[in-house]
Amino acid sequence: MTVRSALKAEIDEIARIWYDAWQDAHARILPTQLKELRTLESFRERIQRALPSVRVAGSIGEPVGFCIVKDDELYQLFVSAQSRGSGVAAALLADAEDRLLQCGVKTAWLACAIGNDRAARFYEKCGWRRTGIMTNLAETENGTFPLETWRYEKTLMSDTL
Ligand SMILES: CC(C)(COP(=O)(O)OP(=O)(O)OC[C@H]1O[C@@H](n2cnc3c(N)ncnc32)[C@H](O)[C@@H]1OP(=O)(O)O)[C@@H](O)C(=O)NCCC(=O)NCCS
Repeated sequence: MTVRSALKAEIDEIARIWYDAWQDAHARILPTQLKELRTLESFRERIQRALPSVRVAGSIGEPVGFCIVKDDELYQLFVSAQSRGSGVAAALLADAEDRLLQCGVKTAWLACAIGNDRAARFYEKCGWRRTGIMTNLAETENGTFPLETWRYEKTLMSDTL
């Protein structure tokens, strides 16, 4: 599965993946106030802003998943329902870890919604470990929304290398 930079022409498809996967994974377990802010248009605007750092898997015009890294954070990873369990997520994660490494990140982190058990299992099998609970400032169109989340970390580069 090839992972590549997202194209401007794919913004709508990526926003749809994000919206649908957010509903699948988060709508049941996160506060209603946050759910109300997570509209398709809000995801579209965020993808548009983040476009230079959005990586996707899938053919041109038909992305099936995307990933964004920000500083030392694995910021977003979302895969369409049809492509889960297929290795797409692992390919996107490996690409993200490579990019973090290239930026000199030794230990990367991510926030995972408490109760998102499928994502937790996925990260753990990819070598990430849960280090505790943190308050994550989720980005919304109305500013940040504080949310208790699981924190995961992965050491990408050992100090002894
Ligand atoms: C999280 C995500 C990227 C992982 O990709 P994926 O293709 O589903 O991952 P995989 O299928 O390789 O791994 C998921 C694992 O969880 C297991 N699993 C499935 N449902 C589960 C559940 N309800 N509880 C616990 N484990 C579950 C699967 O069996 C698999 O484990 P296995 O390989 O040992 O059998 C994808 O599920 C997704 O996009 N989810 C919606 C959005 C999301 O939650 N993003 C992450 C935000 S932090």
